[in-house]
Parts: sequence; C-alpha cells; structure tokens
Amino acid sequence: MKLKNSNPSFNFYSFSILISLLLFFSCKEKTNSSEAPHPIRGLITEKAMVVSARKEASEIGTAILKQGGNAFDAMVATEMALAVTYPYAGNLGGGGFMVYRLSDGELGALDYREKAPLAASKNMFLDEEGNPIPEKSQVGPLAVGVPGSIAGIFEAHKKFGTLPITELLKPVIALANKGYVVTKKQEKRLQRFTDIFIETNQDTILYAKSYQQGDTIKNKALANTLQRIADHGRDEFYKGATADSLVAFIQRHNGIITKEDLAKYEAKWRKPVVFDYKGLKVISMSPPSSGGVCLAQIMKMIEPYELSAFGHNNLKTIQVITEAERRAYADRGYYLGDPDFVQIPIDTLISEDYLDERMDGFTFQKATKSSDLNYGSVPGYESSETTHYSIVDQFGNAISVTTTLNGAYGSKLYVDSLGFFLNNEMDDFSVKPGTPNMFGLIGAEANAIAPEKRMLSSMTPTIVEKDGKLWMSVGTPGGSTIITSVLQTILNVYEFDMTMQEAVNAPRFHHQWLPDEIVFEPNSFSPKLLDSLRSKGYTTDEKESTVIGKVDAILVLPDGTLEGGADRRGDDTAVGF
Ligand code: GLY
Repeated sequence: MKLKNSNPSFNFYSFSILISLLLFFSCKEKTNSSEAPHPIRGLITEKAMVVSARKEASEIGTAILKQGGNAFDAMVATEMALAVTYPYAGNLGGGGFMVYRLSDGELGALDYREKAPLAASKNMFLDEEGNPIPEKSQVGPLAVGVPGSIAGIFEAHKKFGTLPITELLKPVIALANKGYVVTKKQEKRLQRFTDIFIETNQDTILYAKSYQQGDTIKNKALANTLQRIADHGRDEFYKGATADSLVAFIQRHNGIITKEDLAKYEAKWRKPVVFDYKGLKVISMSPPSSGGVCLAQIMKMIEPYELSAFGHNNLKTIQVITEAERRAYADRGYYLGDPDFVQIPIDTLISEDYLDERMDGFTFQKATKSSDLNYGSVPGYESSETTHYSIVDQFGNAISVTTTLNGAYGSKLYVDSLGFFLNNEMDDFSVKPGTPNMFGLIGAEANAIAPEKRMLSSMTPTIVEKDGKLWMSVGTPGGSTIITSVLQTILNVYEFDMTMQEAVNAPRFHHQWLPDEIVFEPNSFSPKLLDSLRSKGYTTDEKESTVIGKVDAILVLPDGTLEGGADRRGDDTAVGF
C-alpha cells in the first residue's frame, strides 16, 4: 500500500529534486577529497528567523519580530499569513500543535487540534455491512472536525504575546486584500484539485479558477473574516457572526457541526514529551499527537548504535532506523489517542527497559516481518496535508509549530463567504480498528471516534537543546512520514555533521510498520543499496512514493548565529535579521 494522497502533486518535482540531489552528492564527495569542503548553508542571521512554507509568511513574521514582537506574536501573523497564501495547508479551518522553549529554558506545548463534533459517533463512517466509507471521512462535510487554529493562536498570544492582535493581523489583512502571487508549484497543485473542488462544493469557488504561475489571488472574504476577528477577538470565530456563517454553511452541506460545538472548543496547554539522545535534550509534542512519543521511542531504540560510524543513509543505518520505526509505529496504532479520553502509558513506552526489549530479535542479517510483530506488552496497562514553521526571536525564545487541514485542502469544502477551506481531520480517527486511514496508518480503540475527542496526529513540532542551550527548532508536514522526517533531520546534523540546509535537503526514507515496506524518495538512493536491503528481506518502494516531508528548521550555530533550513521540496523560505 502506498502513502495515499499524502501529497499527490509532489511527483511534479522529481526533476528539480534530482538536480538538487546531484548537487548534494557532488558536494558530499568533495568532503572526502583533500580540498576544503564547501558546505551548503541556508540563510544565516544574527538575531531572529522565521522559516515557513511561503516567503510572504516568513516575511510578515519577521516584520513583526523587527517591530519588537516576540516569537508568539510572530506565530499569530505567520500562521494567518499561511492561511492566506498557502490554502493547501495553512488554515483557519484546521488545527495544530506548538512546542516552545523560552529564553530562560521554560518548556511547554499547546494543543489546538480539532475535535469530533458532539453529534459524531464511533461508526459514523461505516456502511451497513460495517465497512469503512473512505470518501465520507476524507471529503465533504462529515470529514470536518471542529477547528482549533483561531483558539490556538489566541491562546498562545494571551499567555505570551506582547503586541496587540490588531497590529499582528494588520499586515495579513493587507496581504489578503492586495493578493499574493501564484508559484509554479502552487499552479500545479490547484490544477490537480479543480474538479474535486467543484464537485464537493457543488459550485465554483475562489480556488477552482484556472490560475497560472504569476497570477495574483486576492481573498477579500478572508480579509473581511480576519478584520472581524481583529476587531472582536477569538470569540468572533467561535460565538460571533463568523460562527453563525460557518455553522449555517456546514449545515447547508448536511454537516453535523453546531454552534454548541464551536462555543465549547478550547485549546489546551500540554506537557511536552522530553527525552535525551546521546547528550541532546529533545522536546516534542505529546498526545493527542503521536509525534513526541514515537520520536522518543525511535531515538531511544537507535541510541545504542554508532550511526555516525555506519554513515549517512548507509545500509546498516537504514536497517537500524527502519526496525526502530517499525516497532514504534506498531505501538502508535495500539496505545495512542486523546489523553483526555484514554489512558496512555507514556512513561513505559519511552523507557529504556521497554525499548531495549522491543529491539530484541533485531539482527543486521535479516528484516523483521511486520506480520510477526505486534504492539509491545506494557505491564499493568488495561486495555499530507500539513505545514510547519519554526521561529527563533531576538530574545532567545523558540517555537516550533505544525498546523494542518489534514489532506491537501482538507475536506475540499470551501466556505466562500469566509474565504477558507475546512479540514478533513475526522479521517485521522481510527474509523474501524485495523483499517488504514489515508496515510495507511492502522489504529485501534484508543483512537476510536467519540464526541468531543481529539483525533490522533503524527505532527511532531520539536525543539532540541544541546549543552542546556537552544540548538534546533524543527518540524514538517507529511502525515505519517512527519515523525521519521524530523528524526532524520536531527540525525543528519548531530550524527552526520551536516549543515541545517544540507540536513533538510538530504534524501529521506520511511517505514511505518504497516504496510511492511521502506518508502524511499525516488531517484535518491543507489540501486545497489536497495538491492542489498531486498536481499535481507526488506520490501522497498520508490516507484510511487512521494516527497517525504517538507522540513523547515532553524539551527543555532556555535557562534550564536542562526542557520535556516528551508525545504527545497516546496516554496519554503527562511527570512530573518
Ligand atoms: N493530519 C495529519 C496529522 O495530524 O498527523
């Protein structure tokens, strides 16, 4: 099974990826010669930086920092600028997670994940024979979870923001009114989805027009929505005129979200997952995202191995990482869900004893079969598309934020009068235990649908400390591949001495227990290496695989300057000063 629909348009980028990889490998070869190496560096700045999926969003976030705002002020502006310029994943109609580290070392995490509506029920996406109906959980009104993004940015701002919301939204509203320019990648994405936009909305919408690279898209409806939110605050979206329009729209399309659902929505502060890896301190997102727990499990399982001695993307390195991923994703499917609804044995799942035992049976001679592996036994336990941005401000605060509509343009349902798409996050629930979702992920009871429950996520906004100081802010979109992309980016810098930009550029691979295959970025790994893996019993797939992740990261260099890593796989851009 392939990673269905996580990002179908990425295949268009194969050629540019190939060129980048040739450059990457030619650079790496030089490091073995007697000449001094020429590392590929991302943008370097002295004080502050924003790296996001769109130049305009990074520029607006940076302008807020220059005005004296902090990372949380910049979050409000960057997140909403992505909603304007990157409707593929940037959103008002979705949700997300934020992990932060303040300059004094305080750590925390914010959950603004969507929730199941009050009228949702466990079997709502099953037919009369009890079989899942994927089109119901993935497209249209029933796929939509109660949106959390506006609650999230307001909650972050309430706790840490310093500039007025009106100031933060002003440049975003101006951008929505003035318009933004369509990129080549955006043109291709929009063209791919035109028919389904019209079919789902039973009408044309702003984004169903035939846009070419260089065209300007103005979104006056979104500018008006943001102006009302700037004027009346958070409750405008959840209880005000915007809520009325949103609910009327959803109910006209036979959806089940009510005014009560919106009025009851709250973002929640969570305790992040924190663990050590060979001297690094990694801080990542806790449930209802699986990101932090899975990342911790994988990193603790690979910690005993000398990856730097094996070499980057070397056979043994790939084997160790794959086997750790296989085991972590098997546990993910069984144990993880919304912590407000299910008991999750996090401490055990990320403990060294448990993970040592989990790697029992691993050998370099032969692949473990996923069919022979189940979730681990925990004593006493009863039982895409997304976008990421990283910000470091001039005060030393860092945030790592991943936000999503789930699939590309979410449910494809577009609220024309308000100017935004609605998510299809309900598909992240386990619609039927044992049946894969759109990312091929298998879930269990812990992630079954229930009213007001948050669906399990893979989003992995992560901050890393080295020697007690901020070292990296990192994250990515990519559905189930998010966790493994974050992992490989951290390892690329720490184990394999890459710069931030090289670490982001480097080709990636992914295994998620089921389907039992390693997915490789196409044309990125040598046929000899893939043959060696197959001879050990691994199934490899690079035919239909898409780009794995689009990482946006910031690294603090030894001299205190910042290096941005903006993913070449998208229009991602680092801006700073
Ligand atoms: N919707 C993708 C995720 O949350 O993992």
